[in-house]
Amino acid sequence: MAAAAGVAGETSERGLRLLDVKAGDTLFVDGGAGGVGAVAVQMALARGAKVVASASEANHDYLRELGATPVGYGEGVAERVRAAAGGPVDAVFDVAGKTPVEELISLAPEPSQVVTIANYTAGQSGARVTGGGADSHPMEALALTADLLAQNKLVIKVQTFPFDRTAEAYRISQAGKLVLVP
Ligand SMILES: NC(=O)c1ccc[n+]([C@@H]2O[C@H](COP(=O)([O-])OP(=O)(O)OC[C@H]3O[C@@H](n4cnc5c(N)ncnc54)[C@H](OP(=O)(O)O)[C@@H]3O)[C@@H](O)[C@H]2O)c1
Repeated sequence: MAAAAGVAGETSERGLRLLDVKAGDTLFVDGGAGGVGAVAVQMALARGAKVVASASEANHDYLRELGATPVGYGEGVAERVRAAAGGPVDAVFDVAGKTPVEELISLAPEPSQVVTIANYTAGQSGARVTGGGADSHPMEALALTADLLAQNKLVIKVQTFPFDRTAEAYRISQAGKLVLVP
């Protein structure tokens, strides 16, 4: 569980800090129901931001439960985000790397207000790509993550398996993330 929280927490803190997401801002998280996305959504909400997030239909209730406004991803996503935001979008955090970056940039006040952790060619269009390294403030990020977890402002859903169900876990892991426990 700590591993899941650490990676997702550090990555989310980094993305939201680079985007300078503040109370009252509107943030779009593309891929908001995933391991990183769900943490980014909750961290942004804890800062007082309004959050629109994309997911498959099956995860829309989950996003609502977290406090975000869900939209479907895929073709036309930017239009759906505009409609859901009901006003300007201040920042876009791309945690899936699937939407054409130009579409994400069309939502933001400027290209650099799109930060991606998963589309490594997005920098050519003026978006910012982050993979950690110098951008990372791991100690602050882990402290923030622990604090939000302690306050129940952050809940991380993971499916766990005992080691004797490793084969089953491996099969399921082909379609998502999980944590093995002894
Ligand atoms: N650069 C970094 O520092 C860094 C750090 C950590 C992770 N990563 C990368 O970040 C990515 C996400 O990691 P993760 O652990 O959050 O993965 P994950 O748990 O598998 O989540 C991926 C999410 O993407 C969503 N998705 C699928 N197709 C999409 C589309 N066309 N448009 C928008 N969203 C879509 C899925 O939504 P549904 O489940 O609803 O279909 C899913 O929730 C991976 O590529 C990973 O390698 C980068």
